[in-house]
Amino acid sequence: MEYIDKIKSLFESDLKSKISKIDLKNKYLGRKGLISEAFKEIKNIPLDQKSKFGDELNILKSYLEKILLEKENFEQDGMKMDALAPINLTYLNQTSGHLSAVTQTIIKIQEILSKIGFATIIGLEKENESYNFDLLNIPKNHPARDVWDTIWIQDKDNNKNLLRTHTSPSQIRYLEKNKPPIRIIAPGKVYRYEATDSTHETCFHQIEGLVIDKKTSIATFKGVMEYLFTNLFGREMQIRLRPSYFPFTEPSFEIDILFKDKWLEICGAGMVHRQVLKNVGIEDQSHQGFAFGIGVERLVMLISGLDDIRYIHSGDLRFLYQLGKKS
Ligand code: PHE
Repeated sequence: MEYIDKIKSLFESDLKSKISKIDLKNKYLGRKGLISEAFKEIKNIPLDQKSKFGDELNILKSYLEKILLEKENFEQDGMKMDALAPINLTYLNQTSGHLSAVTQTIIKIQEILSKIGFATIIGLEKENESYNFDLLNIPKNHPARDVWDTIWIQDKDNNKNLLRTHTSPSQIRYLEKNKPPIRIIAPGKVYRYEATDSTHETCFHQIEGLVIDKKTSIATFKGVMEYLFTNLFGREMQIRLRPSYFPFTEPSFEIDILFKDKWLEICGAGMVHRQVLKNVGIEDQSHQGFAFGIGVERLVMLISGLDDIRYIHSGDLRFLYQLGKKS
């Protein structure tokens, strides 16, 4: 048995040396290699140990074959393997995937907000015109429709369907089926028919948020945003509300966060418009709340210092490994 162990340790030290793959193969697995020599020794082994010796030797032989094959594959992949460990874990790490930076960010936000009572719902990517626009107080011919260049879908029944331009229709779908108090987020893909450039993609992700109850005010909203961004970045974050316009919120704001001494726009938001609440049958004036829509790719770019959004969905593995790896 000692003999077998000796071959094994010799092999392992040879692996780390500069000896070529062919020489390594010949030395151990060749016709006159150490393994066949060892098999020849069987005749000299005492009868009661013969079969154990044979078994061990076969195990060693398949181990050597496996390692040499791995080394061959590895080198074919164009990677250098100077010091090969018996089982090469770097190689395994390299090929096992991970969640994309966008998904990781969505999950992180989901975890943070769930601690203060937000449930996650999933809306529809293919929407109907009335949910994407009308019920959100954007009637036909309203100039606000032009803000979102839309990808329409032609259906057999001539329904006007589209790939949603924002996650806000999820608000309507949830409000139709649920009574306040409401505290939800709805992450997912949205689509715009527009030319791509370093800050625009035809498909990107948003996280919609909606809170409706009897007490929620703009102050609550600001508190929630500060809590979210402070936890997301792991340090105290300053935010500001800047007046803006959305047909489905009144008043409306953009949320800016102070990042490296610059105010950066991170999400659209506002107090849910009375008309939107009416559209889903909430007439009771004592109910009110806020909604927000966070652009996820924007946040990923900010956190990683990326200057072109198109990399994110490019599918380039070198980039994805770098961006998505866990810190
Ligand atoms: N839906 C808006 C957009 O896509 C963002 C938003 C969501 C604004 C909720 C206000 C309230 O730009």
